[in-house]
Amino acid sequence: MEIFIAPAKSIKRRLRVPGDKSITHRALMLATMAEGESTITGFCPCADCYSTLACLQIMGLRASLRNGQETMHLSGMGMRNFSEPDCILPVGNSGTTIRLLSGILAGQNIFAVMNGDQSLNRRPMLRVVEPLRHMGALIFGRENGALPPIAIQGRKLTGIEYHTPVPSAQVKSAILFAGLYAKGTTVVVETSASRDHTENLFSYLEIPMIRIGHRVEVEGDIDGFPGFNLEIPGDISSAAYFIAAGAMTPDSRIEIEKVGLNHTRTGFLDVLVRMGADITITPSDEEGPEPSGNILIRTSKLHGIDIEGEQVPRLIDELPLLAVIATQAEGVTRVTGAGELRFKETDRIFAIAECLSDLGVTVNVLDDGFEIEGPVPIKGGRVRSYGDHRIAMSMAVAGMISKDGVMLEDAECVEVSFPGFWEILGGACGL
Ligand code: S3P
Repeated sequence: MEIFIAPAKSIKRRLRVPGDKSITHRALMLATMAEGESTITGFCPCADCYSTLACLQIMGLRASLRNGQETMHLSGMGMRNFSEPDCILPVGNSGTTIRLLSGILAGQNIFAVMNGDQSLNRRPMLRVVEPLRHMGALIFGRENGALPPIAIQGRKLTGIEYHTPVPSAQVKSAILFAGLYAKGTTVVVETSASRDHTENLFSYLEIPMIRIGHRVEVEGDIDGFPGFNLEIPGDISSAAYFIAAGAMTPDSRIEIEKVGLNHTRTGFLDVLVRMGADITITPSDEEGPEPSGNILIRTSKLHGIDIEGEQVPRLIDELPLLAVIATQAEGVTRVTGAGELRFKETDRIFAIAECLSDLGVTVNVLDDGFEIEGPVPIKGGRVRSYGDHRIAMSMAVAGMISKDGVMLEDAECVEVSFPGFWEILGGACGL
């Protein structure tokens, strides 16, 4: 599907974005492992989360939608009662599904195979396979477990202490999930903090855990935990596209309601404020495992900055969008220490450089990041999404601030994380 994104004029809107995708994956998995009934409100109805749901349903989870599709009701099976799948588990495009489920399946007494789409089956798996093998897991895959499809024969695991080479919430979470099934203690230590939704949900469910700095420790062989009720806030990574649009389109004011404000995810807001953006955050006083609130953004004059090191995991998914923002900021914006971008749904450093160059902007490509000198007008033109939802939505924002508009190819991939994106964008800027 091709979509033409016209240059936008003033945008004055209040809107909401779908629930947080990372929290939804974890909530679905934990509701399956729980004893009894759970309800999840505000879950993200995106393709990636439906991949997780489909895999869990194949292994016995019962789930139904109630209250006009707003609330998902789930009947948990208990930690060790997953049924052996009699077909291949379809993880689609979702790295979070295959990596987190690997940790859970390693401790189940069943055999399971997970297969993804073409993009997923090129993404590295050794980062979870190696530590899980150290815990005793039996895992097979292409190139000795480096690439999906991945086959797992669950068996008895033993706790390990693992220092992750690169901060990754998917790796940390896979090991922590496996740790709940293992004998003894499992420890994960990171050099800087990756998103901590797994830990926050473990605390919410009173699963014993010790967190000190970037070190997390869980006790293994737990008996189980009861079902739970959870309300999931909007996904800040989805809100980011409208925050960027609000900052860069003239005479604009966009308020996004009920967005998750977990500190490990708000790096994008911090960076925008450092670049000079006019952002007001109103925290909500609702209780739950995750903080949330409203974000108000007004048209802002931006300047370039350096983004590096510990800041990177806190905005890793927003870096393609930041490249678009950098084109409108005065001076150089330099991102380093973001080599992980090369292992996402596509090589995002390459894709950003190709797309922006197709729109008339020069990007200085680095091994582990990029440099863009602004302000530089985005002329417009035709770009590909590379089948990557975050590249597609970043290019939509580029279209809004372009002179002649952008024709985006393969625009349907936004469904991977943000169903309804085109409708909200159309409503916001009269597409
Ligand atoms: C995610 C973690 C991040 C992120 C991905 C979702 C998660 O990946 O890029 O979109 O839900 O745990 P890494 O853990 O590989 O950095």
